[in-house]
Amino acid sequence: MKRKIGLIGGGQIGGNLALLAIQKQLGDVVLYDIPQAEGLVKGKALDINQLTAVEGYDCRVTGTTDWNQVRGSDVLVITAGVPRKPGMSREDLLEVNLKIMRDVAANIKQYCSNAFVINIANPLDAMVFALYKITGFKKNQVVGMAGVLDTSRFKFFVSEALGCSIRDVEALVLGGHGDDMGPLIRHAIVGGGRLTQLLNKEEIDDVVRRTRDGGAELVALYKTGSAYFAPAASAIAMAESYLLDRKRVLPCTAYLDGEYGIRGYFMGVPAQIGAGGVEKIFELALNENEKAEMDKSFDSVKKTVASVKL
Ligand code: APR
Repeated sequence: MKRKIGLIGGGQIGGNLALLAIQKQLGDVVLYDIPQAEGLVKGKALDINQLTAVEGYDCRVTGTTDWNQVRGSDVLVITAGVPRKPGMSREDLLEVNLKIMRDVAANIKQYCSNAFVINIANPLDAMVFALYKITGFKKNQVVGMAGVLDTSRFKFFVSEALGCSIRDVEALVLGGHGDDMGPLIRHAIVGGGRLTQLLNKEEIDDVVRRTRDGGAELVALYKTGSAYFAPAASAIAMAESYLLDRKRVLPCTAYLDGEYGIRGYFMGVPAQIGAGGVEKIFELALNENEKAEMDKSFDSVKKTVASVKL
């Protein structure tokens, strides 16, 4: 039987998620949005369905404003919320997006109690926390997408700086999805060699800065919203690993239960995603500097989570 992928929010990221899910033939897609956006999601669904003949895709998209149609989804990806505008931080979105998350999470609990849920809405770490608390789902069932995107940006800037293929860049970004995120320089490997031996300090600082500001750079360019292609591709990698039980180890915003010395919060760490959802957290041996960066990032996450009133 085909798998069912529920996309909550049919805006910029939602539409790209639907397209990628169909192109990868992961399953049938339900693209849900609020009644005011009915034409948008029905239009996107019809448009994507009309391309299925080109490559012979057998999966279909349904655009809907009815939660009944989302019922029984195997995996859900949430993008319901408002994106940043120039000059805004992700944290500035908390109040407006938390209001939306309250509604979305309550419906998820009612209609999709067995789904694996991936959240993209910002501020990411706090929104996943809210989602987890409102649904009361298991800790392995709820996750946030940020690390795959931040890591992809990091790898891209490294490959640009070196002029080498992105395939041979191994790297990771840890921590919260905010200005304190931590690209792990010491762990970055290109073609078997350490990044620290391939780029000088200035070049590395530049890569780190562009990675951290990757989202803001796009907000400044787009002016009306935030990134959507790369976030969609990143969440699809996570959904695919879950649906196909690939057990990929991906940097995700996962619930920490003592790992990295943190308990009861969601933070970006390498996590194994398979049929069991978040099956395992990988704990890296961090040096003093890296631990200090992780702590700083955790402090920022804690501060935002403290403002989450459920
Ligand atoms: N239920 C479902 N969808 C909703 C709800 C709701 N309660 N409230 C708003 N939406 C929908 C909007 O109607 C809109 O179509 O969410 C969609 C968001 O789409 P965009 O505005 O295009 O935003 P997008 O770029 O997709 O980003 C969504 O992801 O990266 C984060 O910061 C970003 O929080 C933002 C989210």
